[in-house]
Amino acid sequence: MKRLRINTLLSGGTVGQEVAVGGWVRTRRESKGIAFISLSDGSTQDNLQLVIPEGSPAFRNLAHCNTGAAVKAQGILKESPGKGQKFEVEVSALEVFGDADPVLYPLQKKGHTLEFLRELGHLRPRTNTYGAVFRVRNVLAHAVHEFFQERGFMWMHTPIITASDCEGAGDLFTVTAFDLGKSPGSDNGGFDFSQDFFGKHAYLTVSGQLEAEFLAMALGDVYAFGPTFRAENSNTSRHLSEFWMIEPEMAFADLKDDMQLAEDFFHALCKSVLEKCGDEISFLEKFYKRTSVEELKELAVKPFIHVTYTDAVRELERSKEHFEFPVKWGIDLQSEHERYLTDKVFKGPVIVTDYPKEIKAFYMRLNGDDKTVAAMDVLVPKIGEIIGGSQREERLDVLISRMQQTSVPRENLEWYLDLRRFGSAPHAGFGLGFERLVQYITGMPNIRDVIPCPRAPQTIKF
Ligand code: 4AD
Ligand code: MG
Repeated sequence: MKRLRINTLLSGGTVGQEVAVGGWVRTRRESKGIAFISLSDGSTQDNLQLVIPEGSPAFRNLAHCNTGAAVKAQGILKESPGKGQKFEVEVSALEVFGDADPVLYPLQKKGHTLEFLRELGHLRPRTNTYGAVFRVRNVLAHAVHEFFQERGFMWMHTPIITASDCEGAGDLFTVTAFDLGKSPGSDNGGFDFSQDFFGKHAYLTVSGQLEAEFLAMALGDVYAFGPTFRAENSNTSRHLSEFWMIEPEMAFADLKDDMQLAEDFFHALCKSVLEKCGDEISFLEKFYKRTSVEELKELAVKPFIHVTYTDAVRELERSKEHFEFPVKWGIDLQSEHERYLTDKVFKGPVIVTDYPKEIKAFYMRLNGDDKTVAAMDVLVPKIGEIIGGSQREERLDVLISRMQQTSVPRENLEWYLDLRRFGSAPHAGFGLGFERLVQYITGMPNIRDVIPCPRAPQTIKF
């Protein structure tokens, strides 16, 4: 008999129906000649109770049904007398595929710390916490596509291997086919990349934006959603070396349109989690006391607060808070500053706009004051920046001079300048860090706990 997933069974099953389920044993107990197994199959936050009467042939297999064992059970769906569960299965046949030694299996009943579970990347998806987080992650990924597809944006696959550093920050991983032990050197003692696989220095992309721009300049509204890589040596609770980014890019759009899109997008994502992952959020709220269902309901509708960089700096200068990094106009906002603004001043998501040009990337559109650029960052409580975006510089001469000022080499980006030579138009876009979003919505304290295989400095075990 084909197995039913526990979520399907709980939502659409009928009493008396014959069913088969497969999953991993959470707990087993016996009482007065009846055995009870609590089974999880990852499809829902709920476990299913299997009831095995002593007389049943299934009873003989119970010895191997320890916590962690993989089993398939067949039986009749019954209304459950237990509280908190609608159904249970009275088992007639029980097959044990793989048992789990109770001395060796590391996920016994008691709660483990997230740090301990991080060392068990291959087993942690079986816990309630990670099951919840990964289901929310899946729902959010789907909601991303739903949101853009409904609005006529086309999903474009920007490259993972690239020759350009979009952000100009130099945090790049090199991609090479050299055998590093015996590769040809160049005059200055480095590698001669002209002899490498691509004939030039290649990298893992830090952002799909530059390619999304030329696609938007032909197709109108597009979005990229894929992995991006940063070789920043940041060991923090909000940085990964490999993370997923969603990058919409819109033709004939300015910063205002960009901010409106970011807000609508954020609201839609919160709504879809509320709609589809209420149990997961309630569970996480109970254990981690960070993002609550009530808070999410508010986030799903509340307009973002807007503040210019200049006003935000004024607010920070006025505060009595002791900051590790001193504040004055022109500084890049540090995480402590961002959190002060979101957690203490505005108490919610904030869009900060019009940053000094010196601290932002070369492609952002220069404002009339010649000092600031049409940039926007969305900051959220506890985490800080989750979205970074801007209107793009569409004027060829201004862009060339910005590239010179920021020492961005032109030779790799002539094609990017072409977009300003031929049919240039105002356009804008942003990048949302997918893991930061999942982290914010699930309330997980560390970003390494919202992606199955986190990549960070010195971290690549799984
Ligand atoms: O602000 P960033 O660097 O912007 C860009 O890359 C633009 N090219 C995006 C665009 O306009 N199309 O990165 C965008 C977002 C950040 O706001 C943050 O949420 C996330 O990506 N991010 C990271 N997330 C996890 N780990 C890291 N190391 C991250 N660096 C950036
Ligand atoms: Mg940024």
